Amino acid sequence: MSDTADQPQSPLSAPAQEASGTHPAIRSFVLRQGRMSNAQTRYLETMMPRIGVPYRPERLDLDALYGRHAPHIFEIGFGMGETSATIAETHPENDYLGVEVHSPGVGSLCKLVAEKGLSNQRIIQHDAVEVLRDMIAPDSLAGVHIFFPDPWPKKRHHKRRLVQPPLVALLASRLAPGGYLHCATDWEEYAIQMLEVLSGEPLLENTVDSRQGGFAPRPDYRPLTKFEQRGLRLGHGVWDVIFRRK
Ligand SMILES: C[S@@+](CC[C@H](N)C(=O)[O-])C[C@H]1O[C@@H](n2cnc3c(N)ncnc32)[C@H](O)[C@@H]1O
Repeated sequence: MSDTADQPQSPLSAPAQEASGTHPAIRSFVLRQGRMSNAQTRYLETMMPRIGVPYRPERLDLDALYGRHAPHIFEIGFGMGETSATIAETHPENDYLGVEVHSPGVGSLCKLVAEKGLSNQRIIQHDAVEVLRDMIAPDSLAGVHIFFPDPWPKKRHHKRRLVQPPLVALLASRLAPGGYLHCATDWEEYAIQMLEVLSGEPLLENTVDSRQGGFAPRPDYRPLTKFEQRGLRLGHGVWDVIFRRK
């Protein structure tokens, strides 16, 4: 991603107040080199100076970033960005900040944003845990999306899963009261872990009665992915877990 030090109106102004908070230290991703298509490279280079935000250990002024006051939705790990672009397109009333480490995915979402002419999607290419800790103010988010995070199926890799108590506590602190945390997975055992971990966070409450199993129906705003449609046809499950900040 480009160095945006030359951008005239950086929304990164106020120094971080809490940059020294504890880091959950989850190594949730492995940076693969990954092949970039020509289009992904081109869109990454042309769009990131416009919609990309460089990581800096400073609080981000989200209203200044979008030039308006609207609900801010934060997404961890948008992959190739198809879901993110669809949601941003169908909800122009919200502003979306997607965080992803993988360059082909960043190039792909840049392309979708350009093609759809979206003005409410911004991207940070960095570890989302550090972004949350350092750049996002407490009580500031209307929602958080974590869709199909890497399940890390091997037991010795479970420590790499994102949805664990330290990250959930950090996320809960960044949500405004009434804001939601929405996780989705097609890995049943991870779904159960999500439900347990979110239930254990004192700042959060389930939007669904635990007597009804605790899992939420897929809300209309989350589109079915092609991968998910195929899985559902084959009889595989998908679980949505949606909690609210008290
Ligand atoms: C299995 S993919 C799912 C992508 C997408 N959400 C979807 O539903 O198709 C998980 C993504 O999360 C990203 N990721 C994992 N840990 C991350 C972190 N700490 N910060 C940013 N991105 C992360 C990975 O690079 C990967 O692209």
